[in-house]
Amino acid sequence: MTNQRVLMTAVGSYLPANVVTNETLSSFVDTDDAWIRRRTGIAQRHLVAEGETTADLAYNAAAKALANVGLTGGDIDLIIIATTTPDNTFPSTATKLQHMIEAKNAIAFDVQAVCAGFVYALDIADAMLQSGRGRRALVVGAESFSKLLDWEDRTTCVLFGDGAGAVVLELADDAGDWGIRSSVLHSDGAYRDILFVDGGPSSNASVGHVRMEGKEVFRHAVEKLASVMDEALSAASMEARDIDWLVPHQANVRIIDAMQKKMGLPSDRVVRTVEQHANTSAASIPLALSAAVDDGRIKNGDVLAMEAIGGGLAWGAALVKFGRPS
Ligand code: ACO
Repeated sequence: MTNQRVLMTAVGSYLPANVVTNETLSSFVDTDDAWIRRRTGIAQRHLVAEGETTADLAYNAAAKALANVGLTGGDIDLIIIATTTPDNTFPSTATKLQHMIEAKNAIAFDVQAVCAGFVYALDIADAMLQSGRGRRALVVGAESFSKLLDWEDRTTCVLFGDGAGAVVLELADDAGDWGIRSSVLHSDGAYRDILFVDGGPSSNASVGHVRMEGKEVFRHAVEKLASVMDEALSAASMEARDIDWLVPHQANVRIIDAMQKKMGLPSDRVVRTVEQHANTSAASIPLALSAAVDDGRIKNGDVLAMEAIGGGLAWGAALVKFGRPS
């Protein structure tokens, strides 16, 4: 009997060249390095240059992911970009990327689930490939989140950065226990007011700025991420001790540490990039994944646990046996 499953066969990422440290930020925001590090674990963030867009970030990440697995745009059937900061209100940034990588045969669209966007896009791509919409997908998390920040609001502007990460997914007929093992998503619009942007085409025809009740978001994050991770483990008939790497959304090192403790994982089994990248919203998981694959920590066959929560609230978790059977 064949065991059809979707494999995650490659990853790539891109960070804008411009690095802004906490010290630099302190020269124009009423904050300081010690506060930001102590409360969030963030030391610096990368910010897009003038004229550099989300599609540019996505293109660089996608091109690396494709090169890493020896594919070109023409091999891709589906492109999903998870982003809250599209180049334009329409068309989707994914169609722009489709044109840039010459993926003429691909279906391309964006997904908007803010910081949970990558796990949402992964789940959608998994379902679409399994239902026969193609054999290869590119799932990208890409954000120019700095464009949504109110630089006068120190409670939010210190937390975020820009960047992109991409993964290649491939449908395999005899996958064994490789590939996406489980994926669980949740949303609850009752909490939309604790984390939102005060603008949008149909509300006030503006782009708007991020507004957040940090303490409330923190409380929901730890509780909901722990619970959805339990669901994902149970759906895959796995236990936390089966996980090789936790690759969490990188919002705050204290949220990541709380998840590590709840899962009972050793600290050196958790990928942490929040110090260097800050919170890059939908890009944060594939950026962290790419960093740990590039430096050799994550290897072919490792079991990864990914989780994220963001505005909506929307949250989810996915378990993946990374790579392909050799
Ligand atoms: N620099 C210096 N002081 C600051 C700053 C700053 N950047 N921001 C706030 N403060 C001050 C406040 O004014 C307050 O001062 P006061 O006591 O004199 O009133 C004090 O620091 C404490 O502020 P709190 O908001 O209570 O700080 P808290 O410990 O809750 O930390 C934080 C704030 C880091 C935002 C935290 O609540 C958090 O991480 N929440 C999770 C939210 C998150 O990560 N959101 C990202 C998007 S959603 C996601 O990705 C999960």
